[in-house]
Formats: sequence, structure tokens, C-alpha cells
Amino acid sequence: VEVIEVDDEGAAAATAADVIAHARPDVLGVATGSSPAGTYGRLVERRDLAPPTVLCLLDEYVGLPPDHPRRYRREILAALGAPLGLAVVAPDVDDPDPDAAAARYDATIARLGGVDLQVLGVGRNGHIGFNEPGTPFDAPSHVVELSDATRRDNARFFGSTQEVPARAITQGIGTILRARRIVLIATGPGKADAVRAAIDGPVTPDVPVTALRGHPSVTVVADRAALGGRRPAAPREVA
Ligand code: GLP
Repeated sequence: VEVIEVDDEGAAAATAADVIAHARPDVLGVATGSSPAGTYGRLVERRDLAPPTVLCLLDEYVGLPPDHPRRYRREILAALGAPLGLAVVAPDVDDPDPDAAAARYDATIARLGGVDLQVLGVGRNGHIGFNEPGTPFDAPSHVVELSDATRRDNARFFGSTQEVPARAITQGIGTILRARRIVLIATGPGKADAVRAAIDGPVTPDVPVTALRGHPSVTVVADRAALGGRRPAAPREVA
């Protein structure tokens, strides 16, 4: 795992955008949430990406109407897809059989040639995508029941915890690990435990982000707060 320590959220956005732009991905895997928002803003400002690059969602809620503003597909379209003219590929959460839709999503990603670079945030409990603690590291894309903790964390994007959907389709950890390169963005003290675990905690399905240690090309872009105040010489390699 390569760790790039930056001062703050703005620097994390600029650094992660640089890494993505230099990688010139044909298929960019995109997380939603607050962690990558600034990065996407930079990519748009500098027009770093252009067709035929396509955007491939990491996860999506099940149960929201197609025009709901919190649908991740809509958020990514607004933040990146529409401004840069990029197509967005998403799991078909409107399929009455979401399990079948989840299984099809891995086939869709494979048909695209796989994800070249996957952008990730991390949940405070260490979840990646919506892979909650306990998810096997080889899991394919699947339907998940969201934990209460995750629904409470995401209530800030809705009116209340009750309005956060109870289910989602997520790329599985196995799917995420097939991306050729992974860039994890983490800022703020709330992520310190998850980031510490990702860098040097015991590798365990109890903390899904630790699965990244089995991947050959992971870059963590984190601000000082997310690194818990530790000050490694940046960038640095951690085994
Ligand atoms: C959410 C999303 C993840 C995201 C994570 C962190 O539940 N499903 O894709 O990376 O939690 O969110 P945030 O960046 O807003 O802290």
C-alpha cells in the first residue's frame, strides 16, 4: 500500500485527481459520498477525462425511485458524467430481482474489460462500497442489507435514518480487488481507525478495507487527520 499524506481535504482532492488523470483510465470505478467529491470537482475543472472513458458505479441503493436525487447514478452523472460527457454504468437496481441484477453487474464490468482504476472511500466501520464487516474477500457483486451504523452515517444525505434505504447492490470485495489500480481517499478524524486498519491493522473480513492489502496497486490518499496525526514521509511504502 502506497500512502500519500496531505494536509487537508483540498490537497487530498488535488492529489487524487492527479493520480487519476495520469492513469488515463478507460473504465473508472467511482464511489459516491463526501470523500471523493472534491476529487471529482477537480477532474471536471481541469477536464482531465473525456470519452470513451466510462464511469462504473461502485454501489447503488435499492428501493429509491429512478429520479430520486440520492440515487448514486444521478449523483455521479451530475458530478462527473454530464460535465465531462461520460457514460455511467450502474447495477440495475430497478430489476424486480435485485440478486440477478447484482450477478449481471459483474458480467457487465467484465464485458467492459474490467475497471482500470477504482476510486474508493471508506466507511467509519471499514466498509468499502457497501461491503459491511464480515463480507468474504472473494464476494462477487451482491445485494446487501445495510447495517444500522451505515444507515445512520448516511442519514445526513437524507432527512432521517428511516429514509435511508435498507438495501443496496454493491460491487463485491472480489469485484473491487479485480480493478487494476485502487485509489482510496480518506479525510477527517472520523476515518482514522479505518485508515489505520487499512494500512497496518490485521487483515480480517471484520474490517473490509483490510482486503486491499492483498492488492498489488493501492494508493491511499489521506489527510493528516485521517492518518491520526501520524507524520510519515510522504509518499511512503508500507508493506
Ligand atoms: C458510503 C458509500 C461508500 C462510501 C462510504 C464513505 O456508505 N456506500 O461508497 O465510500 O460510505 O462515505 P463518505 O465518503 O461520505 O464518508
